[in-house]
Amino acid sequence: MALRRKLKVGVTVMMINLFIFIIISRHHHQDKNRSKIVIPSKPFWNKLAPHTAYWNRQQQILDIHNNPVILVNSTLSDLPGWLNDSSIGSDPCQPDLRVTTKVKDFNSLPQRFKDFLIYMRCRTYPLKVEQPDICKEPPFLLLAIKSLAPHFDRRQAIRESWGRAGTLRNHTIVTVFLLGNATVEDYHPDLSAMLQYESQRHKDIIQWDYRDSFFNLTVKEVLFLEWIQTRCPGARFIFKGDDDVFVNTYRILNFLKDLPESKAKDLFIGDVITNAGPHRDKKVKYFIPESMYVGIYPPYAGGGGYLYSGDIAARLYNVSEHVALYPIDDVYTGMCLRKLGLAPEKHKGFRTFNIEEKYRSNPCAYNSLMLVHPRTPQEMIQIWAWLSSPNLTCQ
Ligand SMILES: *[C@@H]1O[C@H](CO)[C@@H](O)[C@H](O)[C@H]1NC(C)=O
Ligand SMILES: *[C@@H]1O[C@H](CO)[C@@H](O)[C@H](O)[C@H]1NC(C)=O
Ligand SMILES: *[C@@H]1O[C@H](CO)[C@@H](O)[C@H](O)[C@H]1NC(C)=O
Ligand SMILES: *[C@@H]1O[C@H](CO)[C@@H](O)[C@H](O)[C@H]1NC(C)=O
Ligand SMILES: *[C@@H]1O[C@H](CO)[C@@H](O)[C@H](O)[C@H]1NC(C)=O
Ligand SMILES: *[C@@H]1O[C@H](CO)[C@@H](O)[C@H](O)[C@H]1NC(C)=O
Ligand SMILES: *[C@@H]1O[C@H](CO)[C@@H](O)[C@H](O)[C@H]1NC(C)=O
Repeated sequence: MALRRKLKVGVTVMMINLFIFIIISRHHHQDKNRSKIVIPSKPFWNKLAPHTAYWNRQQQILDIHNNPVILVNSTLSDLPGWLNDSSIGSDPCQPDLRVTTKVKDFNSLPQRFKDFLIYMRCRTYPLKVEQPDICKEPPFLLLAIKSLAPHFDRRQAIRESWGRAGTLRNHTIVTVFLLGNATVEDYHPDLSAMLQYESQRHKDIIQWDYRDSFFNLTVKEVLFLEWIQTRCPGARFIFKGDDDVFVNTYRILNFLKDLPESKAKDLFIGDVITNAGPHRDKKVKYFIPESMYVGIYPPYAGGGGYLYSGDIAARLYNVSEHVALYPIDDVYTGMCLRKLGLAPEKHKGFRTFNIEEKYRSNPCAYNSLMLVHPRTPQEMIQIWAWLSSPNLTCQ
């Protein structure tokens, strides 16, 4: 009898144990699916060491010098020598010859890199041609077109088509062309008298006195950002693009007028490229050597053209002083946006890589687009006539 009872108790206890075991193991299983505690195998901070690539290192130096937390209890002289950049404070527009030794393969780099590096710290150049009152009435849309002195026909086609200044669909538009100097170094003929005539006649040329080269387009960008703040701070929206694109200004105005205020403030749209990095093939126009930059690029809108708010323009201007100049202008703007904690947004109306060939002569193909690249001056005028025709009927 006692034995039987003992057995009964034993079996019951076993059953209960099994039950508890099942419950516990089920719990355990569920826990595994939740976030596991990860014990770091490496320290989560890095000792501050100089980057080997020149741009990255210049950016590190800027970051430290602009970070009030790091400098709060130390003076510059407590910092390691490489951060104690004696050039800070000296005239940034004097040629910086220290780069010839600081960039390890400087002597074997193509000339355009040498030119860029020696003047990398300079962001101010004098205005040669100015339109001080062009934004007396702050425009709804400012069209800013990067152009080169000899491109007279492109500018004229833009004035006669998508870039006509004035009022369109009840919105005010101001158009400016952004120019540097087409210099004799680059074998440009002297066009200064013709440019002067053009500027007097159309009053839409802004020209700064620096060498207008591909790698100096970033200089054009920062000078333009400054110009907006000093000469056109009231512009609601800004389109900035090249002089070989067609822009459907009607479509842009339609898009902007329906934009809710919350979206309008942080607007920055274009043909956005993500997860790109520097080209390492020397033959490519966008080649960047490893001694110059390491890392992937932040998302950026292709320089053919993008659209943003006046509010972002002000923030970009502020932050640009904290971002080292980079030789590719659209990537540079992406870097500035990243520093603001923003990213450009892709809009499928921006076609910087063109549209399918079979649609190119179809007026309706342009109706819903904002930008197509590339287009000749004649094509711009033709497409604009299509879009402006009252007869145009597209679904
Ligand atoms: C700076 O020093 C003061 C006084 O020594 C200290 O209270 C403070 O926490 C320090 N700040 C930082 C950011 O290290
Ligand atoms: C930093 O620079 C200052 C002035 O140029 C100099 O007095 C100081 O010794 C430097 N410090 C280091 C660690 O190189
Ligand atoms: C244009 O604006 C004026 C005045 O603001 C208004 O009276 C007119 O209806 C507008 N026209 C269109 C087409 O929106
Ligand atoms: C710009 O062009 C003018 C006239 O051609 C010339 O005098 C001036 O030196 C040039 N500036 C630069 C930076 O090349
Ligand atoms: C940029 O412009 C400056 C000023 O004219 C010039 O000294 C420099 O060589 C230019 N840089 C490039 C990469 O062309
Ligand atoms: C830009 O910086 C200035 C000076 O620091 C500041 O007053 C202004 O509010 C800033 N503007 C924007 C849009 O961040
Ligand atoms: C529009 O259509 C009418 C009638 O078909 C024609 O007479 C006129 O020339 C057309 N206008 C344009 C700009 O194509």
